[in-house]
Amino acid sequence: MIVIGHRGAAQRAPENTLAGLHYAGRFGIKQVECDISVAADDVAVVFHDESLARLTGRPGTVLSQTSAQLAQYVVNGPEADGPTTIPNATAYFNLAADYDLFVHLEIKVHDREVERAVLAAVRAVEASRLDPRQIRISSFSWDAVMLAKRRFLGCSFAIAAHRFDELRPMLTGEHGLASVHLCIDGATQAEVDQVHALDLPVYYYTVNTASALQGLDQTTVDGVFSDDPLGLVGELAQ
Ligand code: G3P
Ligand code: MG
Repeated sequence: MIVIGHRGAAQRAPENTLAGLHYAGRFGIKQVECDISVAADDVAVVFHDESLARLTGRPGTVLSQTSAQLAQYVVNGPEADGPTTIPNATAYFNLAADYDLFVHLEIKVHDREVERAVLAAVRAVEASRLDPRQIRISSFSWDAVMLAKRRFLGCSFAIAAHRFDELRPMLTGEHGLASVHLCIDGATQAEVDQVHALDLPVYYYTVNTASALQGLDQTTVDGVFSDDPLGLVGELAQ
C-alpha cells in the first residue's frame, strides 16, 4: 500500500506549504499530495480552500487575491521548519523535484472555471523542474481531468470522488486513468472490489490511523493519503 503525504503532511507541518515538503524530504516520504488553486492574477498557488478564513484567518477568497499577496499570508498549522506562507505552485514543484518526490497534484475548481484552473496548473508545471513522470494530476471535476489529459504531457491522471457510485457512469468507456481516489468514510470492501473490477487501483483519503481501514482488507487497498504518513507507516508495521 502506497502511503502518500496528504497536503504534504498536514498533521506535521502547515498544509500545502514548503515546510510540508521539507518534512516529507527529511523523513523519506516518497509521495505527497497537494491542492492547486488559482490566484486573481491567474497564477497557480498551493492551497486547498476557496475561502482564506480557515487557514489564514483573513477575509475573502483565494481567487480574490494575487499570488504576490497570497505569498505574504502565513498558513495556520503545526510548528514547522521552513516557509509556511501560501506557495507559488512552481516554487512548490521545484522543491518537490529537489526532494525527488512523486506529486499528486489535485486541481481545485472553486469557481467552475475549469479551463482557467487547468491551464494555470499546466503553466506552473511547465515552468518547474518537476519531471512529468513524477506527477499524477487529479480532480473532483471530471471536466478538469479530461481537459488536463489533453494539456499535460507525460503525466498520469486520476479522478477523485466521495463514492465510487458517482464515477461509475463516467468509467464505462475508455478513460485512460491511472487511479481512483475515494473517501475512506463509508468505504466498503465491495467498493474496493468494484474499482478493481475495472482494472483500476483505488486510493483512499484521508487515512490518518490504521483503525480507519477497519472493515477493509488492507492488502487490497492500493494507496492512502495521510496527514501523518510516517505515523501511519509505523502503525501499519506493528
Ligand atoms: O486528493 C485526495 C484528497 O486530497 C481529496 O480531498 O478535500 O483533501 O482535497 P481534499
Ligand atoms: Mg486534495
